[in-house]
Amino acid sequence: MNASLSPVMHRVLDASLPLAEAGEGVWIADASGRRWLDASGGAAVSCLGHNHPRVLEAIRDQAGRLAYAHSGFFANAPSEALAEKLLARAPETFRGGAVLFLGSGSEAMEAAIKLARQYWLEVGEPGRDRFVARDMAYHGNTLGALALGGHPSRRAPYAPLLMDVARAPAAFAHRLARAGETETAYAARAAAGLQAALDANGPGRTAAFAAETVSGASLGAAPAPAGYFARIREICDADGALFIADEVMCGMGRCGTYFAFEQEGVAPDLIVIAKGLGAGFMPVSAVLVSGRVAGAMRAGSARLANGHTYMSHALACAGALAVLETIEAEDLLARVTPLGAHLDAALRDLLGEDRNVGDIRGRGLFRAVELVADRDTGAPFPASDGLADRVRAEGMAGGLICYPSPGAEWIEPDGTPARCGDHLLLAPAFISTEAEIEQAAERAVGAVRRALGRVRGRA
Ligand SMILES: Cc1ncc(COP(=O)(O)O)c(C=O)c1O
Repeated sequence: MNASLSPVMHRVLDASLPLAEAGEGVWIADASGRRWLDASGGAAVSCLGHNHPRVLEAIRDQAGRLAYAHSGFFANAPSEALAEKLLARAPETFRGGAVLFLGSGSEAMEAAIKLARQYWLEVGEPGRDRFVARDMAYHGNTLGALALGGHPSRRAPYAPLLMDVARAPAAFAHRLARAGETETAYAARAAAGLQAALDANGPGRTAAFAAETVSGASLGAAPAPAGYFARIREICDADGALFIADEVMCGMGRCGTYFAFEQEGVAPDLIVIAKGLGAGFMPVSAVLVSGRVAGAMRAGSARLANGHTYMSHALACAGALAVLETIEAEDLLARVTPLGAHLDAALRDLLGEDRNVGDIRGRGLFRAVELVADRDTGAPFPASDGLADRVRAEGMAGGLICYPSPGAEWIEPDGTPARCGDHLLLAPAFISTEAEIEQAAERAVGAVRRALGRVRGRA
């Protein structure tokens, strides 16, 4: 197919894409039978592979009965059951809470922003109209979510349209810890940056602080230093600001626990989940609202100010419910940590000594390899080399889907712009076999080596 003639608005308008025809386990095939090993679940989405029979059956069954009934008139059984299950797996503070179902991660982040604002209106603090988010974060592409994001090139075209958001530093020890600084000291310093941002907003002004628990596409599967989130929780509590955990990418088991923040020992006020919730079978996302926030809304206006036509969609929720039931029936969460360790070991074995590999990091089945021009200084390849795009192309040519990104950007304290190395993200399905994990690592390493070879060849 010639994409230049395609009526679909693709991401790249002047290149052609293979036509995906069928999914089988962790593989995607085109009409000619050519197959790609999906080692990133697209963008950390397909945690059950592409044709899980249990999920497909549940979707067929629900579609045969009722796909959609407007949420202003009717409740539906799949969304009620899914909300109950999600709240039961959330921290204690979510007892008496509520779940808002939407269609995408951006929509859910947008809704979380609005829920935080509505909460403060309900409890009589209308002055809390400002937000804090971190440098190098990605929270989605709708205007509110994009305003929270700290991704300069994605923000740039829309900069005049974005609300002003106070910035806290990223928690990214690999790049931002000082020489000789302990993890504890770095965690405290990074968290102190939130305090500075709250102070800049002024007392009683911040509605919420938003952060990815494990940073995803922008930083490349980067967990925070130990102790960081515990301090964040204390700082938010002292200010009064709500804490929104963006687990669109890292949640729903991707890091080895239902919610990635479980491993940090903290509980947010609003939890945003998406990708692994519908696992690609359904476009669905959710905001889990704590008992305190939902309770204030019930006791106040008792109205959600931010309705959407497709919220609580019966078919979407039936698919997501089946995903959750499958993860539990097949005990798939128990596979994530050991399979992730296997992937990490394979990557280190194959690439650990490579002079252009700056870091191999991640948690559970959420892993990234950072590529640098100089391993000693961490200097990235020039953006003009387009290394991430080359890795993507080499991956596809070698029968692999991975998720490469150009390195995140930040400003040094002296004002000079800096950039991390390009990285590729691997987020295989929880149903992957060890052999598939090894094959994913081998194909990813092949794509990296070929891409590096082309970049070096140009030097
Ligand atoms: C952490 C995070 N938040 C929000 C989003 C936006 O989700 P969506 O692309 O489904 O709108 C993404 C997408 O990659 C993400 O990684």
